Amino acid sequence: MPKKIRLGILGGGGDSLIGVLHRVASHINDNYQIVGAVFNPDHEQSIDFAKEIDIPTNRIYKDFDTLIEEELKLSEEERIQVCSVQTPNFLHFPMAKKLLDNGFHVICEKPMTMDYAEAKELEAAHKRSGKVFALTHTYTGYPMVRQMREMVKNGELGKIHKVDARYYQGWINPIIHDKEKRSSVWRLDPTKAGISSCMGDIGVHAFNLVEFTTGLKVSSLLCDFNYLYEDNRMDVDGTVLIRMDDHVKGVIRASQVATGEENGLAIRIYGEKGGLVWEQENPNFLYYFTEGKPLQVYKPGHPYNSEVSLNGTKLPAGHPEGIFDSMANIYLGAAKAIRGEAYNDGEFPTMEDGVRGMNFIEGTVASHKQGNVWIDMD
Ligand SMILES: NC(=O)c1ccc[n+]([C@@H]2O[C@H](COP(=O)([O-])OP(=O)(O)OC[C@H]3O[C@@H](n4cnc5c(N)ncnc54)[C@H](O)[C@@H]3O)[C@@H](O)[C@H]2O)c1
Repeated sequence: MPKKIRLGILGGGGDSLIGVLHRVASHINDNYQIVGAVFNPDHEQSIDFAKEIDIPTNRIYKDFDTLIEEELKLSEEERIQVCSVQTPNFLHFPMAKKLLDNGFHVICEKPMTMDYAEAKELEAAHKRSGKVFALTHTYTGYPMVRQMREMVKNGELGKIHKVDARYYQGWINPIIHDKEKRSSVWRLDPTKAGISSCMGDIGVHAFNLVEFTTGLKVSSLLCDFNYLYEDNRMDVDGTVLIRMDDHVKGVIRASQVATGEENGLAIRIYGEKGGLVWEQENPNFLYYFTEGKPLQVYKPGHPYNSEVSLNGTKLPAGHPEGIFDSMANIYLGAAKAIRGEAYNDGEFPTMEDGVRGMNFIEGTVASHKQGNVWIDMD
């Protein structure tokens, strides 16, 4: 077993939503050890949290710049190798860029940056650095999503006709109707979240799944947002028509005001020979429809699955894989890349996915603002 990769954490404090997912995921395959962090902007809070989760406090820095400065003073054998950026969106770009510029590998939350121009700048910094950059589009780590991609690639659906991806949540519903509450949430503040709330936060996951599973690129889109209130500057619901290569058409629907919905991400792909349906809230079932035959249900861990799907399962069939495993698979792919080991295409989302995602988000905003017109993606 090679030595563990020295991992730094930025954000993801005890008060955060996503921190626990990253911490658990990074440990699942025994590849990483957390050695340094800035969990919170408040140093004391960061230290308290490090104590709570039993991480030595000597490398819990007061802020990100100090982390870089102090870590660079350490020998390469001691220094953090990869930092995981789990802060609110506006910090992804400055943190990821400075990390790459200073020779650290990066695991970064989505949306990758605040806008497309930043994404292109980060892409250039990544190219210069020669370091690994993994974007945590968590859902691509599910064994059945990987299986879906392989089945499409192997032609089991034939020529694709139609793609329908939706990501419905309801969590903003109790907040959006109260003026004070809606101005206190960072996801509704353009200076913290970027140019879009709903499409930037969750629509981009659906977009990523569409391109990941079909292997096709969205070439143009038309979007209609709903802001619900005049003073709300950020979309909380959106519907996007998409056109892809080779006459494939589809729709991406995202909402944060789909009352009662929890984490309703789902994707359906239909081709001339069959269809595939996967739903995040039941991630161990992949439904395969074929013309004139009974419905087939694929499940993780069986030898009929592809190698890349099986790489993402650790126990025999029948032991459910969940969101922690899915994120762990992305950390596993990144670990292989950091160690210079061979890995399969799609084992972790890359800089290219991040750039595409920002191109998509910016396209949806432009389409809506220009009166729901078709916008070409790069
Ligand atoms: N991949 C996914 O499925 C998924 C799911 C949820 C959130 N996210 C993304 O993760 C990121 C964080 O989301 P969240 O819901 O956990 O946010 P959150 O507001 O719950 O937590 C953010 C954390 O960052 C810390 N923080 C803020 N400023 C900081 C700074 N300057 N230095 C260090 N730490 C700082 C906060 O103290 C907090 O601990 C967002 O970009 C979001 O889009 C991704």
